[in-house]
This record gives sequence, C-alpha cells and structure tokens, in this order.
Amino acid sequence: MDTPREVWSARSVFILAAIGSAVGLGNIWRFPFVAYENGAGAFVIPYLIALLTAGIPLLFLDYAIGHKFRGSPPLAFRRLSKWTETLGWWQVGICFVIAVYYAVIVAWAVRYTFFSIGQAWGDDPEGFLFSNFLQQEDGARVGFDLVPGVAIPLVLVWLATLAVLALGVQRGIGNSARIFVPLLVVLFLVLVIRSLFLDGAAAGLNAFFDPEWSLLLNPTVWIAAYGQIFFSLSIAFGIMITYASYLRIRTNLTGSGMVVAFSNSSFEILAGIGVFAALGYMASIASVPVDEVVSGGIGLAFIAFPQIISVMPGGSVFGALFFLCLVFAGFTSLISIVQVVISAVQDKLGITRIPAVLGVGGAMAACSIALFPTTTGVSVLDVVDKFVNNLGIVGVALITVISVAWLLRRTGELGDHLNAVSSFRANIVWQFCIVVATPIVLSAMLISEIRTLADEGYGGYPDSFILVLGWSVQAVLIAFAIILAVLPWRRGTDLGHPEST
Ligand code: PHE
Ligand code: NA
Repeated sequence: MDTPREVWSARSVFILAAIGSAVGLGNIWRFPFVAYENGAGAFVIPYLIALLTAGIPLLFLDYAIGHKFRGSPPLAFRRLSKWTETLGWWQVGICFVIAVYYAVIVAWAVRYTFFSIGQAWGDDPEGFLFSNFLQQEDGARVGFDLVPGVAIPLVLVWLATLAVLALGVQRGIGNSARIFVPLLVVLFLVLVIRSLFLDGAAAGLNAFFDPEWSLLLNPTVWIAAYGQIFFSLSIAFGIMITYASYLRIRTNLTGSGMVVAFSNSSFEILAGIGVFAALGYMASIASVPVDEVVSGGIGLAFIAFPQIISVMPGGSVFGALFFLCLVFAGFTSLISIVQVVISAVQDKLGITRIPAVLGVGGAMAACSIALFPTTTGVSVLDVVDKFVNNLGIVGVALITVISVAWLLRRTGELGDHLNAVSSFRANIVWQFCIVVATPIVLSAMLISEIRTLADEGYGGYPDSFILVLGWSVQAVLIAFAIILAVLPWRRGTDLGHPEST
C-alpha cells in the first residue's frame, strides 16, 4: 500500500476503543435477563467458564490475526492463506447487516432521552412505543412507509457515525472512545447507585443473585452462557481483527485482551445489579413478585424502564440519563462495526478513507434508513437480528476456528506471534481451547439453533417472512463473500506477510 496503515497513538486508546465496542446494548439489556433466566446467581459458573475457555481465547485469536497480518478481515485472512479471504468477507457482511439495524436502536434511544424529560408515554408506555412512536402496522411484511419520528434521529445517528469515521482511526474512533467510554462509566455508576436506594431494590437483587443450581444440568443454560460471551465480546466477526490491525508492531496483545474482557464483564455485572434493583422497585410499587416484572431487550428498555421512570421520584432525570447511557454504549459499538466494512473496502480497492466513508458508509446508511424506520420495520429488525446473531455469528466463528486451527494448523504460529511481545502467555491451554473446546461448543450451539429455528420458526412470524429475512439473508451473505473473495485486489496490494511495515 502506498499510504501507511493508520495507527492508534497509544495502546490505551486501542483498549478504550475495544471496550467501547464491546460494551453495548447487550451489556445493559441482554445480560441481566439472560443471567436471570439461566440460573441467576448460579449462572456465574457457566458464564466464567465460557469467558475463560472461549471468550478470551478467541479474543486473543482475533488480535493475533489482525495484528500479525495488519489488515481488515478480508486482507488479514487473505494474507493468512489464499483460501480464507472468503471468511473475512463473510465477517464483513455480518457487520454490514448488524450495523444497519443496530443504528436504528441507537436512534430510538436518542428519541427516548428526550421523551423521558416530559415522560411522553403517559400511562401506557407499550402503546406509546408501538403505536405512537414506531407506528407499527399489524402483521409482518417488508414495507417502505417511513415514520419520520424515527427516520430523522436515524439520519442524525448515521451522520454522527460517519463524521467520526471520516476523522480516522486515531482522531475519530480513538478520541470518541476517550470521551464516551469514561462518560458512560460515570453516568452508569450514578444510575446504579441511585437505583440501589430505591424501595424494593434488595428484593430485586435477591432475585438476580439467588442461585438455581439445578439449572446447571441443563445444556441450554451452557449454550446461553457461551452465546452471551460471544455476543458481548464482539468476537469472531471482524471487529477485533480490524481494531488490532491498527496497533503498533510491538504491542502487548494478551494483556490488552484481558483488560478488555474483564472490563466488559464488570460492566455487565454492574448492569445486572442496576437493572434488578430498578425491577425490584417496580415490583414493590405494583406489589407483585419480582419475576412478574422481569424482561429483557426492547421490552426492558423501552417499556419497563418508562414505567419505572414514571413512578420514581426524579424519574425524568433518571430516565434521560438511562437513555443517554444506551446512546453512548450503542454509539461506540456502532462505530466499530461500520469501520469493519469501511476498512475492508478501503483495503480491497486501495482507496483512501474519505471516499470509502462516503461510499460505503453512505450505502449502509441508505439501507438502514430505507428498511427500518418504517411502519413494518420492527418485525424486520427482530427477525434479521435473531438470525444474524444465532446463526451468522456462530456459523462464521465455527468455520473460522476449523479453518485456522484444523485445516491450516496455524494456531502454533499465531500463538508465537502473541507470545513474542505479550505479558500473558498464549500457551498450551490456549491452544487446547482454540483447537478442541471452541469447535465443540460452537458446533453444539449451531446445531441446536438450526434445529430450533427450523422446527419452531421464530416469534410466531409467517414461514415466508422467516425464510426471506432469516435464512435467505444468511445464505446471501455467504454467496456475496465468495464472490468478493474471487474479485481481484487493487494492483500492487501486498498479499504476503507485511511483517516489516
Ligand atoms: N458487544 C456488543 C454488546 O454487548 C454488541 C455489538 C454488536 C457490538 C455488534 C458491536 C457490534 O452489546
Ligand atoms: Na458487551
């Protein structure tokens, strides 16, 4: 390449950006619910085992690939072997799909930050969400009737994202992480401490921590733990490869990975405490047991929290801060997935940052705005999200591990790369996790997901809707990946080991 690759100014900036990517909506609205449903206090065991046997080892693997081969996923995998470029594009496709709907949820959170101030939902947060705000029609189809109240904030979210990315890796991504990550941590701590002082908080925490040991015999609990770890650390779909490719040559990779992984998990546990304290308060106000008010995802953030905000003293401020936290957490994650796509196209075509941001980012924004802020957008989002997370990410992770560890037998070489500089050694235990443990777990996850989705469908949507937005989208991503891998690189791209750059 004629222009040298961009670099982070310091390892700490990379760590902050990686934490910004990892800490997202999943930490706040997914983890507390998943943990509660899967053994509550007892979930700590499968969760820690998943973190140590798959999460951290795969995070190291991503870092090793991105750092050693210094490229976006397609370039890094092309340099790893001429057979694996397709894997890189598959990861890029997954990032494309996630980005186009993830931005929409950030846009909702932007609106709700303002709705909180006047508690715009009145006494019916659920009706307000689906009818007044999102204006959803009944039934599932793909339509294009825009809802301006969602489309306008979505345009703003995309403009902000592309503006950050146009500024580049250090000035844009690095500096925004330096601002938003500390801000998020401080605001979130304030919220959690405030919720601990609500009436009923103790009952909520009891529900969250009270262990259900018998559930540990249930395989679905283990699958849920691994699923949460994969999603939460954003591993094996290109983000960490991309971010690691901007690190200077001599960098302590495994030490950085440990910091990122434990920060992400700490934030998750903090969120569990805050969310359950608030749910305990809600249950005490309604005089019902805590388990009757527990929810996760969109229902937790956009229905249960508005209910809590309406009844609690100082609810408007608490609510605005809560949604602001969702915005900050989501924004830094969104930046990281869009950057994967932009850097891949930049590498393949040999174009500079600004045209790539305008072209690729513009195209992503256009898809996002056409498909999701519509009167039919929520069911589309729901199905696309389910399939890309439960099939796409798991599938690409499994095929990647099998290719790198079994077919190409490259874990020794990648382990040596990690150990050349790092503080924490990627030793035989790491090798075992990558070569034996993760392929087994990922296959079990994939098989069980395919079975359930094939037998039961999802969310009661019609089969044709699931076929198009679920199965077909995943198949199209693989087809595109194969086509893109066949297309030639910009003339003069160095496809060998760039060890000396
Ligand atoms: N890891 C993020 C979370 O826990 C989710 C995420 C998804 C981040 C996609 C980036 C890209 O919420
Ligand atoms: Na996370």
